[in-house]
Amino acid sequence: MRNVTTETLTQTFLDYCGPDTSPRLRFLLEHLSNHLHTFVRETGLTHDEWRKAIELLTKAGEITDDERNEFVLFSDVLGVSSLVDMVNSRPEATSSSVLGPFHILGAPDLAFGGDLKQDNEGATVVVRGAVRDPVGNPISGAEIEIWQTADNGLYSNQDPGQPEYNLRARLQASHNGGYAFTTVRPAPYTVPDDGPVGELLHATGRHPWRPSHLHFIVMAPGYRTLVTEVFPSDDPYLDQDAVFGVRSDLIMDYVEQTDHDLVPDEFEAKSKLTSPYYSVDFDFVLSAETAE
Ligand code: BEZ
Ligand code: FE
Repeated sequence: MRNVTTETLTQTFLDYCGPDTSPRLRFLLEHLSNHLHTFVRETGLTHDEWRKAIELLTKAGEITDDERNEFVLFSDVLGVSSLVDMVNSRPEATSSSVLGPFHILGAPDLAFGGDLKQDNEGATVVVRGAVRDPVGNPISGAEIEIWQTADNGLYSNQDPGQPEYNLRARLQASHNGGYAFTTVRPAPYTVPDDGPVGELLHATGRHPWRPSHLHFIVMAPGYRTLVTEVFPSDDPYLDQDAVFGVRSDLIMDYVEQTDHDLVPDEFEAKSKLTSPYYSVDFDFVLSAETAE
């Protein structure tokens, strides 16, 4: 093509893709180039603006390492991570929500009713619920992974003052799909805003706060793995999550309780419950792996 114009460039780009390009890749590139090129035409993007965008991406590359991925954070604060979650969620299952950068492999097992709180400061929370399929049948033996911040809003891998696997565990649902543990109430926290993502947030008058949450991965053979988080209804940042992770079915209540007799004897921390303590009931629904 010797005479590329603003109108022919997108098709010219697509014509450059060879016959071995997979149909899915061609489809994605067709839409990507269409939207990107339309964006440039419609906004009349200037050289300075494009240079600034490339500069931000360059800085993202410089700050990214094994512990921190600024590109994922861009995807999070631009809402792309959450959109990918939403378009891949099944309506009959619990909504998925961002994995975030603080998950680590190798969390220790915790028995039914076990105590995740241990020596962590803060009020005790008794968390329980069940894992079910979309028609309500229990999924016995489902594996549940949980991780969360401490009372100071930091994950164990951000805070040298915490043991490596503090507030992280793997649980197994019982024969009737039930799970139960005690923990501490996590705190709201900020996503890292000392890099190029922070520059974008500051330039647009946005804050970096996320509402407090408990992260879960729930998996069982024959079912789609669910990566999600659960948020308290009274969190001040519930309606302004910096990474758009909140969905209405992921909101729970911390119910204030004073009656220790409501907690079954099988709870490891029954004898050291705080007064008050809080209870949370939350069920997970997994969709079949084969669901379209
Ligand atoms: C998190 O929930 O851990 C998280 C998610 C996205 C960006 C930063 C943190
Ligand atoms: Fe988190």
